[in-house]
Amino acid sequence: MSDAKRLAAEKAIDHVEDGMIVGVGTGSTVAYFIDALGKIRDRIAGAVSSSEQSTAKLKALGIEVLELNSTGTLSLYVDGADECDGNKNLIKGGGAALTREKIIAEASRKFVCIIDPSKRVKVLGKFPLPVEVIPMARSLVAREILARTGGQPVWRDGVTTDNGNVVLDVHNLSIVDPPALERELNQIPGVVSVGLFARRKADVVIVGGEPPQVF
Ligand code: 5RP
Repeated sequence: MSDAKRLAAEKAIDHVEDGMIVGVGTGSTVAYFIDALGKIRDRIAGAVSSSEQSTAKLKALGIEVLELNSTGTLSLYVDGADECDGNKNLIKGGGAALTREKIIAEASRKFVCIIDPSKRVKVLGKFPLPVEVIPMARSLVAREILARTGGQPVWRDGVTTDNGNVVLDVHNLSIVDPPALERELNQIPGVVSVGLFARRKADVVIVGGEPPQVF
């Protein structure tokens, strides 16, 4: 699978233009993208990073990491996903970086999602849906999610996000209407963000392979 991830990541470089500040996601597929970005670092103006993990890798390769507050709207955001349906709706957050990822996706004109073929699904939900939650609201949010969706929330024990919060992974969902579920879960007090990227979904999806498939 690592070859497929690398091939998707390398194809995404086609979207990088000279002088760009590039939004960068998190995960093993994005790690290949950062490697590729490192090779053209003199052509770009810098990056906005979605996690401490990606920031460390970007800096190690000599790429300047900038604050989103000072860059304004970005032209391009590149990130992976845990699941992707045919409408480019995504489940993300397997790496617990969903909130910053969602912020940068929202701030970007183009979101290019890079995945290996195992991430493609007809209906989202086999991958447990990550939800970032304020720690004191963990039990409340879990009860609400169960009542509203029937899904089984499981606390990702031992994980604290870069924002100091916890993650619930919601099992046994079949997400037939991703925007509606995203709206519903966003209304629960204590939810910081939901790992459903449907309101702001991907614009371009690159599925790694020889050759990569783009849709
Ligand atoms: C991190 C994410 C990642 O994009 C997602 O988990 C996919 O990771 P990988 O590329 O390692 O398969 O959403 O929060």
